[in-house]
Amino acid sequence: MAGTTQSTAAAAAATATPTGTRKRIFSGIQPSGHLTLGNYLGAMRRWVEEDQHRADALFCVVDMHALTVEHDPARVRRLTRQTATLLLAAGLDPRRCAVFVQSHVAEHARLSYLMECTASDGEMRRMIQYKEKVAREEARGRSVRLSLLTYPALMAADILAYGTDEVPVGDDQAQHMELTRDLAVRFNQRYGPVFTVPRAVHPQVAARVMDLRDPTSKMGKSNDDTGGIVYLLDEADVIRKKVMRAVTDSGGTGEVGYDREAQPGVANLLDVLAACTGGRPQVLAEEYTSYGALKKDTAEAVVEMLRPLRERHAELCADPAYVDEVLRAGAERARGLARPRVDAAYAAVGLMPPV
Ligand code: AMP
Ligand code: TRP
Repeated sequence: MAGTTQSTAAAAAATATPTGTRKRIFSGIQPSGHLTLGNYLGAMRRWVEEDQHRADALFCVVDMHALTVEHDPARVRRLTRQTATLLLAAGLDPRRCAVFVQSHVAEHARLSYLMECTASDGEMRRMIQYKEKVAREEARGRSVRLSLLTYPALMAADILAYGTDEVPVGDDQAQHMELTRDLAVRFNQRYGPVFTVPRAVHPQVAARVMDLRDPTSKMGKSNDDTGGIVYLLDEADVIRKKVMRAVTDSGGTGEVGYDREAQPGVANLLDVLAACTGGRPQVLAEEYTSYGALKKDTAEAVVEMLRPLRERHAELCADPAYVDEVLRAGAERARGLARPRVDAAYAAVGLMPPV
């Protein structure tokens, strides 16, 4: 019995809100491609403008997630650094939050295994992203890695290791977040209160930025056709060209209206313009009578929004030692936060503590 009491006490200590009443926020981004406007509007911008100021926040380049599909090791390594550099260029301030690389903190993989022991095979197979990615891998004649199926267990571990209260992500992560909550609740019911049950927070506008060429699918960094994807490091002229060529009307009304069903391409441009300028898409729709003018203004708004980010990125690239130091310190802090809770989880499930 003494053992049970002790592990429950350790678990309770690990669950306590870390810095008084400040919320703990965690989010992650994969280095599986160049970052897009979708990443920025759906997630990063909010991390920069709100989350790092109001909470105890950690932002992680989830490199292990990038190994769930066929990958080139050198490219993942390069993109990991680039992603971290872009997070800093976008305005994450290492004095306010931790920025680090997932594989530098062993607790993620340690806890992921316990999450695999908590989740069921069926609930993993129900994940929409899994089904979509299986279809994509099979279409390319590639085998499906087991880690693609267990991916949400690693994501849950990322989040739960830190006693996270809130996870700011784009809409596409809603299902993974529900699963993470289920796993936290189930684990706590089975073994005692080790984990905080986190909630997802999504942006009000542009929670799902759509591909400019195919506005029924999300702008994703690993889509094959890159013509509809605005990358954060695209040159201004490239951005203009992509936005001007955006698909706007399949119904053929020629009018600018905000209707995601009937005019997904136009609605997407209005969402992007609204997100860049702080307006409301429904109101903006009334200001335009032609697609051309809407596209032109949207292009300029995106170019202006991304300009400082590109400039800062160039500066940071010239100082890789600074980025290294940020990542080193971030990982150290993350390790210190995650280890007690993951140790408590190991003890709670019945694994003998190291002697
Ligand atoms: P990922 O690129 O899948 O690693 O996603 C990193 C973050 O960006 C997550 O919070 C995603 O929800 C968000 N995100 C990715 N693509 C989009 C998009 N097209 N629209 C809005 N948010 C997105
Ligand atoms: N699955 C997320 C995505 O594809 C990335 C991710 C991994 C993540 N672990 C996370 C996001 C933890 C938030 C919190 O976008």
